[in-house]
Amino acid sequence: MTILVTGATGNVGRNVVELLLAAGAPVRATSRNPKTAELPAGVDVRAGDLDDPGSFGDALAGVEKLFLFPNPSGVAGFLHLARASGVKHVVLLSSAAVSEPGETAGPIGLMHLSVERAVEDSGLARTVLRPGAFASNVLQWAPAIREGGEVRVPYAESTVSPIHERDIAAVAVQALLSDGHEGATYELTGPESMTQRRQVELIAAAIGRPVTVVDLVGDAARAQLEDQYGAFGVPGLVDSVLGTYAASVGTTAPVTDTVGRVTGRPPTAFADWALEHRTAFTAA
Ligand SMILES: NC(=O)c1ccc[n+]([C@@H]2O[C@H](COP(=O)([O-])OP(=O)(O)OC[C@H]3O[C@@H](n4cnc5c(N)ncnc54)[C@H](OP(=O)(O)O)[C@@H]3O)[C@@H](O)[C@H]2O)c1
Repeated sequence: MTILVTGATGNVGRNVVELLLAAGAPVRATSRNPKTAELPAGVDVRAGDLDDPGSFGDALAGVEKLFLFPNPSGVAGFLHLARASGVKHVVLLSSAAVSEPGETAGPIGLMHLSVERAVEDSGLARTVLRPGAFASNVLQWAPAIREGGEVRVPYAESTVSPIHERDIAAVAVQALLSDGHEGATYELTGPESMTQRRQVELIAAAIGRPVTVVDLVGDAARAQLEDQYGAFGVPGLVDSVLGTYAASVGTTAPVTDTVGRVTGRPPTAFADWALEHRTAFTAA
């Protein structure tokens, strides 16, 4: 029974590959650039671009289970091919943005919802993972912290419950390797709600150097987010991210117990993620 991991070079996919290998499962991985994928030895790496399902060639041959990266274009055609070649179960990386309160999902939520619907329409057994903010999102601050010890943070007092990407992968691997996860939708978070300012403090503690936070609100926050997301050209994206940040100031971000329940071990603290990744904030 081969398991195919798409998005295998991503923060989550790489961990899915490593955990499947550690469990002794037969793993195949796809990337648009298999030659530069740098996946561990023992992984059968093939070419595959989800925008172009035909590019998978025979990468789906013999595959029964699939970890699916949420790429909206081409997903229906890809799932059609997957089903025709014998795939039985899809574990989808989706997003908590799908289930934002008051149906204010915004463009990120709507994009993930369209992929969830394609998986549902495919008729394949499915497990949907809806993580909130990844711990790795803070890597966007790494150059500024390395270069000047100062970060400009839109709504530094906004809150998240950052989740270690390996914990998302661990849930995915349970769903791929053990019974009882078909039909489940898992809302995944880290163990603790914290402000973005607190995340910076924990990075500073991990690297043993002070880091100054410049708190951006209103127009200054908008300008920063335009720089960050404007190039994606997604209508409403900046407004949606800005609204989510501003609305969470002074609130506690949701925390679920799903990682612990599914994997049997507690989710990783953000402080430990920061220690594990400290060289990203120090090495040139
Ligand atoms: N960041 C968050 O807080 C957050 C929260 C909830 C959900 N998410 C979801 O998680 C995703 C990010 O996951 P990640 O951090 O693991 O990935 P990542 O590190 O951002 O890497 C992107 C991955 O997507 C793959 N990819 C991109 N376009 C592709 C295509 N056309 N066909 C096949 N593969 C393609 C890349 O593969 P190759 O380049 O090797 O082809 C790479 O493995 C987001 O896009 C979002 O959907 C993120």
